Amino acid sequence: MSEDVGRIRTREDYRAARKHSIEDPEGFWAAQAERFHWHEHWNEVLEWDFTKPDVKWFVGGKLNITENCLDRHLEQRGNKLALIWEPNDPKERFVRLTYRELFERVCRYANVLKHHGVKKGDRVCVYMPMVPELVIAVLACARIGAIHSVVFCGFSAQSLADRINDAEATTVLCSDGMFRGAKEMPVKSVVDEALAKCPTVKKVIVTERVGWSVQMQEGRDVWLHEEWEKVDGNCSAEVMDSEDPLFILYTSGSTGKPKGVVHTCGGYMVYTEYSFRNVFQYDESDVFWCTADVGWITGHSYIAYGPLLAGATQVMFEGVPTFPDAGRFWQVVDKHGVNIFYTAPTAIRSLMAHGLDHVLPYSLHSLKVLGTVGEPINEEAWHWYKTHIGKGRCPIVDTWWQTETGGILISSLAVVTDERPSHAAWPLPGVQPILVTADGQEISDNEVEGLLCMKFPWPSILRTTWGDHERCRQTYFSHYKGLYFTGDGAKRDADGRYRIIGRVDDVINVSGHRFGTAEIESAINEAKGVVESAVVGFPHDIKGQGIYAYVITEGPVADAEDMRGRIIEAVVAGIGRIAKPDKIQFVSGLPKTRSGKIMRRILRKVAENELNSLGDTSTLLDPKVVDEIKEGRL
Ligand code: PRX
Repeated sequence: MSEDVGRIRTREDYRAARKHSIEDPEGFWAAQAERFHWHEHWNEVLEWDFTKPDVKWFVGGKLNITENCLDRHLEQRGNKLALIWEPNDPKERFVRLTYRELFERVCRYANVLKHHGVKKGDRVCVYMPMVPELVIAVLACARIGAIHSVVFCGFSAQSLADRINDAEATTVLCSDGMFRGAKEMPVKSVVDEALAKCPTVKKVIVTERVGWSVQMQEGRDVWLHEEWEKVDGNCSAEVMDSEDPLFILYTSGSTGKPKGVVHTCGGYMVYTEYSFRNVFQYDESDVFWCTADVGWITGHSYIAYGPLLAGATQVMFEGVPTFPDAGRFWQVVDKHGVNIFYTAPTAIRSLMAHGLDHVLPYSLHSLKVLGTVGEPINEEAWHWYKTHIGKGRCPIVDTWWQTETGGILISSLAVVTDERPSHAAWPLPGVQPILVTADGQEISDNEVEGLLCMKFPWPSILRTTWGDHERCRQTYFSHYKGLYFTGDGAKRDADGRYRIIGRVDDVINVSGHRFGTAEIESAINEAKGVVESAVVGFPHDIKGQGIYAYVITEGPVADAEDMRGRIIEAVVAGIGRIAKPDKIQFVSGLPKTRSGKIMRRILRKVAENELNSLGDTSTLLDPKVVDEIKEGRL
């Protein structure tokens, strides 16, 4: 099959593809799927019922995604670079792996897993910094049909334990420690602490990164470099059904603990490659760089899978944007000749705040396409990115999607379709968004605002939430009959472009990372002396949203700093340092309705400093508490 099948290169192509995908979705996606290597062809392209939900793509098809990421390229691209790994410290040497070298490492790692008893269907938790072994580990799991569950290395031991236990993982893959900017941080000891509460884990495989001496538990823990020598480099790929789970990735919602979003092999493969090629208008000689961590969905779809499926060369970066200084991203772009650069608005805003002195020393002439993901990008940051990084000549793709969608659903396609600041813009062909009113009526006009839903499945839609299908139904498919509900509000302009406004549920998006308010509150409530808390988001110049916590304590707070310190410690222990509240206000009560429900709307308005638009407070149990909260605002 030609590489160019389904490639959208012009606006006419876009229109034609979109029309085709609506009139004949199965034909449209079948043509995309034909481009891959299948052990057995599918019998049916799609079976679906959003009420259950039950979605199956490429039904009966057999494949292994790693054969499509690696083996398929060996003949033509064996010596092409797959991965250019740039370490945290620019003084350390970078690592380059060709497709053949990556293939050999994945096979060897897969054999290490097998040697330690990991089988198809087993859950393997991956808790690793951004080293090449992280991508190798993920692909090694997929090679043998084990289901990977990557947990971002910034999560605490408690969060890690919760995720391991929910998935009943048998194996953990980790490193000794990690570098992050000027800091060295432990990894293995966090795993040790978590595993004290995880009875299902039988093996831990440790990659050496910082050279720390760590405790190795006899019979359970082994070093990767020692095991590496004991196995050979041939590992045939496990043949998987299209609908076998490929991975679990935990994400936060408005209620309860994070849930394990499940993606399956066939549809995820087809969609991540399709969206990668078309959104970024990737060409064979391009160097792609996505700055996300593989611990989040962006790193799954546009580091571990999408670019490799497309046979691309990509940069993988271990460090942070501000170490050794705020020019680090741009130095890496010049160093490796990056053509397509994909990052988060929060990183752009933070680098913007450091000033142009960190940008001007670099030429950035290799850049062709810029992208953003994870949260709305404000116009100021968009223009800065366009002017100073893209030098006015690079299109910006503002890509809207979610852990649950598996790949980019709404975005302009670089150059092909037009862009507008702060607008994700156009649905990809094959994606059918609609806006609905709060009572579920479709809004068909333009220049409107509503709740963003999808009315037809795309291949990488989540299939379930691990161990709790009903939760998946309730969270995404029960609000509006026959629709997938995204949890986002959006506007549609006169031409049909979408502009995402943000979450309409109790989810806060901090630096592009999702947290449920309930999750943060339950961590805060663990702090000694805390009686109750309520958390809301508020606009934050760098992070997009910050976390504002209202906390009721047992008796008056004698030492506010000490109490705040204890609350932050509780959040760091319960979730991780990424969820630290920015503001903590002590209050004697919370605005509650007579039925005991916290009126978050009021708390949000106070946090946003919109004190004159609190609305009617007379129905509250104790309206006076609102005055106290307003006065004490931080
Ligand atoms: O609110 C939307 C926001 O991020 C949420 C999804 O978060 P997560 O599952 O962690 O995935 C982030 C990376 C794909 C969405 O519900 N979001 C994501 N991309 C954008 C966005 N908001 C506005 N514009 C975007 N481009």
